[in-house]
Amino acid sequence: MIGRLNHMAIAVPDLAAATAIYRDTLGAKVSPPQPEPDHGVTVVFVELENTKIELLHPLGEGSPIQGFLDKNPSGGIHHVCYEVADILASRDHLKEQGARVLGDGEPKIGAHGKPVLFLHPKDFNGTLIELEQA
Ligand code: CO
Repeated sequence: MIGRLNHMAIAVPDLAAATAIYRDTLGAKVSPPQPEPDHGVTVVFVELENTKIELLHPLGEGSPIQGFLDKNPSGGIHHVCYEVADILASRDHLKEQGARVLGDGEPKIGAHGKPVLFLHPKDFNGTLIELEQA
C-alpha cells in the first residue's frame, strides 16, 4: 500500500540554527523559510536526492508542534510521510486493520496541496505517520 517516503519532518526549536546545520555542516540544498499559517508551522525544505526533510518550527498560537517541542526541547523527528495512490482506499484498509486515523478521518489538504491523513503513533511503533496521496 505505501509507496515512496515523501518526507521526514523534524521539529526544531531554532529554525535558523537547524537550517545552518543542514546547509553548512551537512552540505545540503535548503529552501528559504516558508510560512504555512494554515498548518501553524514555518517550514524549511531540505532537498535530498531521494526524498526531502522538512524542518518544522512553530508559527502562531496553538501550533500543532508546540507540545512536541515542549516534550523534546532540542527537537526531534516529528513524523514520516509515505505516499499512497488512493488515500480513501488506504484509510479504509487501515481502519479494517484496526489502526486509528487522527481527527475526523477525512483527508485534509496538506502542505504540498495534496490530501493527507495522520495515523496514531501508538499504532505505529511510536511514530506519527502522515499519508499523502501522490
Ligand atoms: Co509532513
